[in-house]
Amino acid sequence: MTLVVMFGPPGAGKGTQAKILAEGTGYLHVSTGDILREAVAAETEFGLLAKEYMSRGELVPDNIVNGTVKEKLKTEAEASGLIFDGFPRNCDQAVEFDKMLAATGIKIDMVINIDVETSLLLRRLTGRRVCRTCQTTYHVDNLAGKEKCVCGGDLVQRRDDNAEVIEQRLKVYVEQTEPLIKYYTGKGLLKNIDGNGSVGNIASAIKELIG
Ligand code: AP5
Repeated sequence: MTLVVMFGPPGAGKGTQAKILAEGTGYLHVSTGDILREAVAAETEFGLLAKEYMSRGELVPDNIVNGTVKEKLKTEAEASGLIFDGFPRNCDQAVEFDKMLAATGIKIDMVINIDVETSLLLRRLTGRRVCRTCQTTYHVDNLAGKEKCVCGGDLVQRRDDNAEVIEQRLKVYVEQTEPLIKYYTGKGLLKNIDGNGSVGNIASAIKELIG
């Protein structure tokens, strides 16, 4: 099995690129953010707990997130590839991920670090719109006045895409997630991608990396 980790700050384009890569390869896109948002919408026990942390822009406790990832590795063991998006998010999660992978015999092939200037991150996050029905992501700059998704669903702003929470998410990224760059560089797994360009150019660069 191929295992790719899509890494980068909030708004870097991890979800956008993971989706394109999944469509092109048949690999499964595993977004811990999407899994948590589904649990929040379904008002499950852990969804209700996660909601509190997500609405503040903080990381959901490791035991909750690690449990969902462990479950995915078990249920998707037959997949040809997995693309993790938003996990791991701190050093403890990375160490726990290594243990889970060692137990299943799967190895990380590559950690793709999408590097984007902070001013662009803010613009991307505040302008993001998501379809309430199918979760497709858009940006106001590319909507040309359209108010609906191609599926007909309403386009809404994510609850955590407001200035105050974005600031906190970026702070959490610098303090807790960015140190993983060193962790994965040390393991020889990190590949840097310039994420400041167009979606298409970044997707081509990632495709080239994957080979
Ligand atoms: P999560 O959903 O993972 O959010 P995030 O990391 O903050 O990342 P985003 O989804 O905001 O950004 P993205 O990089 O995917 O960008 P996108 O492609 O959408 O996590 C949310 C919350 O869940 C966390 O705060 C935490 O509470 C919790 N959580 C999740 N995982 C966790 C974990 N492992 N542990 C603990 N807690 C966890 O693009 C953004 C916008 O830019 C879009 O509008 C898009 O159209 C546009 N865009 C993308 N690329 C380009 C480009 N090249 N040019 C122009 N526009 C672009």
